[in-house]
Amino acid sequence: MIYFFSGTGNSYYAAQKLARLTGDKCVNIASIFKGTVSSVSGKSDVTGFVFPVYFSGLPEIVKRFASHPEIRSHLGSYVYCVITCGAEMAAADKKLENALGREIDFSIKLRMPDNYVIAYEPSDPETAKERIREADAKLDKIAEVINQRGRYRNTNFKKDFLTAVMYPFYNLFRTTLLFRADNNCVGCGKCESVCPDKVITIKNGKPVWTKPRCQHCTACINRCPQKAIQFGVGTGKRGRYYIMNISGNSDKED
Ligand SMILES: Cc1cc2nc3c(=O)[nH]c(=O)nc-3n(C[C@H](O)[C@H](O)[C@H](O)COP(=O)(O)O)c2cc1C
Ligand code: SF4
Ligand code: SF4
Repeated sequence: MIYFFSGTGNSYYAAQKLARLTGDKCVNIASIFKGTVSSVSGKSDVTGFVFPVYFSGLPEIVKRFASHPEIRSHLGSYVYCVITCGAEMAAADKKLENALGREIDFSIKLRMPDNYVIAYEPSDPETAKERIREADAKLDKIAEVINQRGRYRNTNFKKDFLTAVMYPFYNLFRTTLLFRADNNCVGCGKCESVCPDKVITIKNGKPVWTKPRCQHCTACINRCPQKAIQFGVGTGKRGRYYIMNISGNSDKED
């Protein structure tokens, strides 16, 4: 079984392709928490995790899922993770190991388009297409390793240090206080439906963020068709990124 989490489609894309190449099935961690997926049966001897790196560490929902006793007790004998990133996964794989309470056999970073519009300009369509092309070639090789139950880890002090310094900032930035919908909002409800954390509710035709913290996945801000969602200062001037707009991939991630 391949468990994935994805805000803007990169990790979903990678998980789907790996499932095809390894003859496995993939399931969205967010759908499990939302209760929209009940049971899916994939390969039981292999467990894969595919998700984005956040602040050199794990999305909170992945950490919560991986540390759940039921998941820990149903892991395959071979466990791997593919961590999508804009540049560097650092020691996010070690954070996953801590959550799972066991060693991972194979971990690898997969460079994909940048989506973090809150801090910087996301990848433009040309750069995004190029990165997806490179990722496609790398995914073919990753699948070969998985099919041979290969073992590979690339850990070092620099990666550990980066994660130790950066990851604490994730909790600070996960605040929803700085989100707002501007006057371009037409009340379509897309942000509510794409939020993997069930944080957004439409009230009086506008989104309201109902919890103090969220996954900080950027799905709402990147996928609003009106570009009406802003976070703090700076996002108004930036573009938006969602893989569907680049690759024509399926819009459904369950
Ligand atoms: C909150 C947040 C933090 C991020 N932190 C990092 C990071 O530390 N290193 C990095 O290379 N990319 C970082 N990124 C970029 C994403 O990991 C990358 O674009 C990923 O492929 C997005 O996957 P998704 O489309 O499945 O959500 C970050 C993105 C977000 C939204
Ligand atoms: S997706 Fe955008 S336009 Fe639609 S309700 Fe949310 S903020 Fe408004
Ligand atoms: S509120 Fe937006 S950024 Fe936060 S989890 Fe939901 S979709 Fe992601």
